[in-house]
Amino acid sequence: MLILAGGIVFFVIFYKKRMLEMKLREQTLEMEYQQKMLEAALESQENERRRISADLHDSVGAMLATVKLGLGNMLRSGKVEDQDFTRSVLDETISSVRKISRDLMPSTLAHYGLSAALREFCERLQQASDKTFSFLEEGEATPIALREASTLYRIAQELVNNAIKHSEASMITITLTWKRPQLILVVQDNGIGFSVEEKKKQNGGLGLYNLENRARVLGATLTYTSAPQSGTHVELVWNYEKT
Ligand SMILES: Nc1ncnc2c1ncn2[C@@H]1O[C@H](COP(=O)(O)OP(=O)(O)O)[C@@H](O)[C@H]1O
Ligand SMILES: [Mg+2]
Repeated sequence: MLILAGGIVFFVIFYKKRMLEMKLREQTLEMEYQQKMLEAALESQENERRRISADLHDSVGAMLATVKLGLGNMLRSGKVEDQDFTRSVLDETISSVRKISRDLMPSTLAHYGLSAALREFCERLQQASDKTFSFLEEGEATPIALREASTLYRIAQELVNNAIKHSEASMITITLTWKRPQLILVVQDNGIGFSVEEKKKQNGGLGLYNLENRARVLGATLTYTSAPQSGTHVELVWNYEKT
């Protein structure tokens, strides 16, 4: 009897201890995950600033310095060639500023909405590449707030950039499906595929954490369907009526 009672007490204590340990481990994992997400967000902000600063310095700064030289030449020589040169460098500077500002926030997004901005994004990539980019839209579009539209645009942009950079695909497709109350964004490529879990374990994939961060801020779910050699299909499902 005593042994049995002792056994039960021992078992209960042992069991409780195990449960506590498991809970602690879960909490530690969750904390590590949160920490990673935070680091990813901060680091990506830093990267973004670095990139904008480099863009401004290398393109706009360099071109304006050239214009200044050109102006000096022009005033001294009064030659038409010097005027033409300065004018063409100024044109380049203007389009460079346009590009930097469009990358920061495409004006199409604010003026015409998410679909238009994504369509334009695909068209621009198509012009610059030999891959096939398509944008498809299904269902009836609902106006959504600019803040959410830009988060969705950034997510699509990073997914497409990943497909361009890593997938070796020949075809990349963005699909936007409006299925009240859900909006489903799919980015699909026919490339080499990869394992999200593995990449995360390798501790790479700042971009992947950022994507998760953004989806989380929206309250959307992000699902990767990908296997080596079979392309990548990423689906974001967002309940836009809940916000
Ligand atoms: N569409 C894709 N096809 C194949 N591999 C991909 C794809 N997207 C991401 N990856 C892999 O996942 C890794 C992590 O992606 P990401 O976090 O965005 O980092 P990176 O800064 O390298 O783009 C990439 O380096 C690449 O190996
Ligand atoms: Mg990336």
